[in-house]
Amino acid sequence: MDTGKSSFEKIIKEDRAAHDARQWRGSFLDYLEQVREDPSIPKLSHARMFDMMMRPGTQDILDSPDARVHRLYGDVAMKVYNFFADEFFGIEKTISQIVRYFHSASLKGEESRQVLYLMGPVGSGKSSLIEKLERGLEAAEPFYAIEGCPMSEEPLHLLPRHLRKEFEKMLGHHIEGDLCPVCRFRLKEEYGGRYEEVPIVTRTFSKRNRVGIGVVPPVDPNNQDTSVLIGSEDISKLDIYAEGDPRVLDLSGAINVGNRGVCEFIEVFKNETEYLHAMITATQEKVIPAPGRHGLVYVDTVIVAHSNEAEWQKFKADHTNEAILDRIVVVKVPYNLRLSEEVKIYEKIIRHSDFRAHVAPHTLSCVSMFAILSRLEPSPKCDLMTKLRLYSGEEVIEKGRTKKIDIHELRDDTKREGMSGISTRFIMKALDNALSDNIDGNCINPISAREALINMVKESDLSDDTRKQYLEFLQDIIHKEYLEILEKEITKAFVYSYQEQAESLFQNYLDHAEAFVNKTRVKDQNTREDLQPDEGFLKSIEEQIAIIGSAAEGFRQEVIAYLWAASRRGSGVTYSSYEPLKEAIEKKLMTSVRDISRIITKARTRDEEQSTKYDTMVENLLANGYCKNCVDVVLKYAANNLWKD
Ligand SMILES: Nc1ncnc2c1ncn2[C@@H]1O[C@H](COP(=O)(O)OP(=O)(O)OP(=O)(O)O)[C@@H](O)[C@H]1O
Ligand SMILES: [Mg+2]
Repeated sequence: MDTGKSSFEKIIKEDRAAHDARQWRGSFLDYLEQVREDPSIPKLSHARMFDMMMRPGTQDILDSPDARVHRLYGDVAMKVYNFFADEFFGIEKTISQIVRYFHSASLKGEESRQVLYLMGPVGSGKSSLIEKLERGLEAAEPFYAIEGCPMSEEPLHLLPRHLRKEFEKMLGHHIEGDLCPVCRFRLKEEYGGRYEEVPIVTRTFSKRNRVGIGVVPPVDPNNQDTSVLIGSEDISKLDIYAEGDPRVLDLSGAINVGNRGVCEFIEVFKNETEYLHAMITATQEKVIPAPGRHGLVYVDTVIVAHSNEAEWQKFKADHTNEAILDRIVVVKVPYNLRLSEEVKIYEKIIRHSDFRAHVAPHTLSCVSMFAILSRLEPSPKCDLMTKLRLYSGEEVIEKGRTKKIDIHELRDDTKREGMSGISTRFIMKALDNALSDNIDGNCINPISAREALINMVKESDLSDDTRKQYLEFLQDIIHKEYLEILEKEITKAFVYSYQEQAESLFQNYLDHAEAFVNKTRVKDQNTREDLQPDEGFLKSIEEQIAIIGSAAEGFRQEVIAYLWAASRRGSGVTYSSYEPLKEAIEKKLMTSVRDISRIITKARTRDEEQSTKYDTMVENLLANGYCKNCVDVVLKYAANNLWKD
């Protein structure tokens, strides 16, 4: 590989060449030619952003091979937008509402004259969603603007009104908006009104350079100077130029800057109402006042705002705000409530951070479980852990049957589910704390992460009831869940070729259950003898999930019917096809090794055979993603908690 100075130079040169290749400069006349060739060039801001988010394409959520997704979305039409898909998880509904806003705004519907407002609890992804839109713009094609315009305005504004109808026909594009005072002045003074000669350039969206992306942080209420939004008059120039001379104008407010792209209002309702009026006129009328006596300036920008629910409620309660409320499209950004997706959120955050420790298997799912439990509303239909499972698309087994609860009904019964609870940031802090407690091992695991969460909950500023409930989640529910996971994990590591053993139990069960149901015999694989179905064996599996006595016959029929239907549909049948049977088989395998696990992991001295088994088990755990540090921790934990004497 090329190393040293020349390789740096090569990259720099290539980058510059690529950048230059994207740049364009010409007269307004040349620009008209460009637009005739490609009428999509002078897009308005909403349409530009809508196209940007549609370009990477969409998928049907049911294209996913994940059975859980089908259980959740089988009867609703839900699209996945690739633009957002690899960064946002479990908030498909929110995203589709955002896309819908842009879609109708791009068609110049009423939405194009309304503020897009994201409302949700802390750390639910509001800022990240808007940042994603901004990054999308930065990565998009450059746009055309009048050279030197402080607002990078659309060159078509140069066309005088009386010619527009004719040009619109030729260009196939509706022209809206008028020159800003600065460009109007320059057209007259510098170009003697010959607008066809005005130079046009391409510009690239940039948040840092304040091109097409403006940001309004919340302003000190005692010092609400609208110059942050609409610019100001440059006092030093007031001596040189006469009043009303546009050369004193400094159009560098966030809305000026956001022209052509987006203008973001952070914590929007922290601002005084008066301050919000500029925001509203900018969207509703598509004009803002120019500072001083310079009339109005046309703007074309997507105004997005965000804040948390408390601020929204406060603002909404004030009747004097009605006019503003009517001009806002509210999109709720609740917390995600799906376990698998919550895990993806932390994987993403960790990937993008400097966090470089080993994360033991199940760590993220345990902390995610806590986050989601804290966000769920109780239901009379099931306990919270069951609800969590159902919301994650899992099948919940109760008395040998999959529990039938309608997820949509469960959701409809809630009031503000997902709008409160533990935030993503709280969880990330806990993971950081867990790591600082084990800097030497450089590893976090479910046990240390849970410990860190417990400490944080104890110290945090919560109501007594909430704290008590959170501690119950951690010390009771998640503790038990994790022990179950761990037992399965260790069993898998102990059992030589676990998968095959499970399959073989499954096949055996099927053969015997089928013979039992059809009152036929089972042919022994080896001796070719015809045997009676082995009821003892069937029972030994069924009792694992508490199917006993008269329930057994029905269960066997269900298994056979289910699998028969599955194989007729052409889906391959494996031991994990039918959830209740899968659970029974796994439990059976666990009991078969329970004794040996407890002896081996607890014994201080092991005989040779035990040592070999132990070493193989540890090796398997290492191969399954554990590190030396966390293998020790989880095995000790298992010995103390799973197999207590
Ligand atoms: N559903 C989600 N999918 C992907 N990432 C998420 C999701 N929810 C939160 N995050 C991540 O959590 C972190 C915090 O989110 P962000 O800062 O965007 O929250 P916020 O809603 O703006 O919070 P605040 O109200 O405190 O400003 C970010 O790294 C964000 O990417
Ligand atoms: Mg934020």
